[in-house]
Amino acid sequence: MGRGIAQAAALGGMGVLLHDPVPDARAAAPERIAADLARGAERGRWDAADAEAAAGRVAAAGDLAALAPCELVIEAAPEDLALKRALFAELAAVVAEDCVLATNTSSLLVTAVAAGTPRPERVVGLHFFNPAPLMRLVELVAGEESGAAALGRARAAGAAMGKRVVRAADVAGFVVNRCNRPFGLEALRLVQERRASVAQVDRICRLAGFRMGPFELMDLVGTDVGLEVARSFHAQSFGEPRWRPSPLTARLVAAGRTGRKSGRGWYDYRDGPHRPPDPGPPAAGGGDGLVVVAGASVLAHELLGLAEAAGWDASPPAAAQGETPFLILDCGPAAGDVPLQGGPQAISCADRSLAAADGGGSAVGFLAVPPLAATRVVELTRLCRSRPCDGSFYPRSLRASCARRAPDSLPAPLRHVAPRTATQPSRLRLRPCALFFRDRPRRTIATPSLQRALGCCSKAVPWCHAIRMPTLPSRSRPERGEALS
Ligand SMILES: NC(=O)c1ccc[n+]([C@@H]2O[C@H](COP(=O)([O-])OP(=O)(O)OC[C@H]3O[C@@H](n4cnc5c(N)ncnc54)[C@H](O)[C@@H]3O)[C@@H](O)[C@H]2O)c1
Repeated sequence: MGRGIAQAAALGGMGVLLHDPVPDARAAAPERIAADLARGAERGRWDAADAEAAAGRVAAAGDLAALAPCELVIEAAPEDLALKRALFAELAAVVAEDCVLATNTSSLLVTAVAAGTPRPERVVGLHFFNPAPLMRLVELVAGEESGAAALGRARAAGAAMGKRVVRAADVAGFVVNRCNRPFGLEALRLVQERRASVAQVDRICRLAGFRMGPFELMDLVGTDVGLEVARSFHAQSFGEPRWRPSPLTARLVAAGRTGRKSGRGWYDYRDGPHRPPDPGPPAAGGGDGLVVVAGASVLAHELLGLAEAAGWDASPPAAAQGETPFLILDCGPAAGDVPLQGGPQAISCADRSLAAADGGGSAVGFLAVPPLAATRVVELTRLCRSRPCDGSFYPRSLRASCARRAPDSLPAPLRHVAPRTATQPSRLRLRPCALFFRDRPRRTIATPSLQRALGCCSKAVPWCHAIRMPTLPSRSRPERGEALS
């Protein structure tokens, strides 16, 4: 982060002194910044002449004493309160009395960092985002003692770097990291519960519109930095369970896989691209038969229009009596609706659970957010009523073939196969617990309702990927045979 902030400051016209106690890092920094600036100019991000001038404004500072002439010092040292406090105490003895000391902490309280610094009114939070030269936002944080003059100078410096400087309260994570925490932690829980793989979670998030998935972001930030931030969040919230750090991240950090900077994290960056390109979106159109759309919501209205545009006869339930529909899309009751029957059903789960909505247990749940024209993902899910999915209803040949071809794509239960039971009702044999098997459509086992919902979503919503979320057990019981690999 320090190098990125230095680069942004130099591009903003400021003279920059860069200090790092690690001699190699310190010596290499100006050269690496010059290379990054030149690369940015090649990519048209800024002018080549500006890049050259900016590179000339950066110099390494051998020790902290060399920072004496600075008007603003921004620390981007490791996320450790004692370390940051000691650093500011040392700096305060070196720089002028009115020099502003800004911390780039992601999770510590600015108030806590400032405590112990002589004249704490000059300490502020100036929180940049990674990569600092490109990310537009900076959070400006006032600690308990921060003074107006210090805040003003920090804001002006951020603005000179071309950043949008916003005020944020001095709470753990400020605003952006507070919102971002669940993005990473919930993704980690999904993987830990063996509901999806790292690559699947990232791919779906990208399809939903995120520039990168949570695991790619963790690798960019540094899994070690993320873990320290997670520990800090947890400690500062007095052990709030939702901020509990993930043991999966801890294990990765223990293995030295700290992300992009070490060449390996959740992904391997050592040999070119860390993932294959995402599959292209399916084309809309080709619907055939009757699709009944129930409900009076915006979603129902939009689905009617889209199904019609894709070629189906689309109608509300009352207008479709006597015909066998290809699919019924249940978006909630509307006044005067007739009971829905006669075809496979997909039930909108925007405001209810599938378990509550589907007494029979044969429908598919779906989640799509209007406006559908802008939606790229529809999530589909099924119930697994009588027992947790254990994959026993998958033909042995399919399990073996999938395991050979792409073990990572197999849902966890299939990797620990339980014997097929003779007492299973036949309905259960068809129950799909395959996750996101879209890439291998011919390998998919699906109930008619799932297949139809999948087809309908893909055909009706342009640019939409229908994805299957994991089958949910109706009662929360631990799944048998689970083990972290
Ligand atoms: N990585 C991110 O995406 C990100 C984003 C926003 C904020 N931050 C914050 O920036 C800070 C640094 O994060 P990072 O990702 O650059 O960590 P990092 O571990 O990659 O880099 C920390 C650097 O600080 C140096 N250092 C160690 N002790 C020091 C000291 N006493 N004085 C000065 N430098 C010292 C290290 O040699 C290293 O070069 C943390 O507070 C972090 O929370 C990080």
